[in-house]
Amino acid sequence: MVGSRLVINNMTSALIMPSSARLLDWYDANARDLPWRAKPGETTDPYRVWLSEIMLQQTTVATVTSYFGNFVARWPTVHDLAAADLDDILHAWQGLGYYSRARNLHKCAGAVVAAHGGSFPASEGELVRLPGIGPYTAAAVAAIAFGHKATPVDGNIERVVARLFAVETPLPKAKPEIRRLAETLTPDHRAGDFAQAMMDLGATVCRPKAADCAVCPLVRDCKARALGEPARLPVKPPKKVRPTRHGVVYWLRRPDGAVLVRRRPEQGLLGGMIEFPSTPWDEAVPDASDIEAHAPMDVEWRELSGDVEHVFTHFRLLLTVLGGQTSEQGGNLRWCRPEDFGTLALPSAMKKVARHVADSGF
Ligand code: ADE
Repeated sequence: MVGSRLVINNMTSALIMPSSARLLDWYDANARDLPWRAKPGETTDPYRVWLSEIMLQQTTVATVTSYFGNFVARWPTVHDLAAADLDDILHAWQGLGYYSRARNLHKCAGAVVAAHGGSFPASEGELVRLPGIGPYTAAAVAAIAFGHKATPVDGNIERVVARLFAVETPLPKAKPEIRRLAETLTPDHRAGDFAQAMMDLGATVCRPKAADCAVCPLVRDCKARALGEPARLPVKPPKKVRPTRHGVVYWLRRPDGAVLVRRRPEQGLLGGMIEFPSTPWDEAVPDASDIEAHAPMDVEWRELSGDVEHVFTHFRLLLTVLGGQTSEQGGNLRWCRPEDFGTLALPSAMKKVARHVADSGF
């Protein structure tokens, strides 16, 4: 305003800035120091961004931070990961959940090397065609690694947007509406920083149970805040009750102490992981004929007392363990001594089985 007597001080200019600019200012001062983010002066590495995004779909930033360090130390580039043994990747993934993601990680690295000469493509359209990359990850990588205008919407962003616009529709029905609203916020420049700023704001300020509105750079635009109860949003669907599934596990031991193991099918739950043989995991408790039909060998089985419980996202699993002994090698069967279990991609449920057997004294 040339000639105007109005003095725009810092407070006033913050008030008239668009909300995206205010959020970016906040991010510049408050961004979390995370190992996949480029430090000032560094260039962003798409491999690190992609790897972190796949890991972050599973679990918290705190957990991912240590896994991420281990992965990039072992496989510093997409070429290294593509050349790695799948079993080593599955093993390093242990504790991050859903092994299908680890298998897709390996496939995706292979595809980036084979079809893109080892450089991740930059557009959402090309990224989404790679194994294990869905619309969220494609948008996150396009924005964060390449600065493209794209709008990834994760749980944190969903919450911030639902509050900012006071979206009353319950989740998951509200998702398309929240996505549309999120897109209206994304700036033409620094879209990646903007997305990460929204994530950091959701994680540190606009938290699920408590919104710290006093320090929020978006407070004056926030409809939920104006209505007085921001933490009520987004509206969650009623909790589903987890069904219980039952199984019988066969702990078959040879005289040298080795235990019978097998690999699970590549597709489906814990795909490609190692397990002790068992009946299928069903809501019906297996009866005597199921137990006989699935036993890996015809030996005398003894039931160990107590069950092993493991909770998956969609069901609770109760496993009864039968112990047996054999001196047969059994053709193509795979055996492993308990002291070598650490070398196997053994899921948590099976580690619990091994602990249960050790505690039982069998
Ligand atoms: N959650 C998913 N991606 C993230 C990122 N890049 N930074 C912080 N939290 C995230």
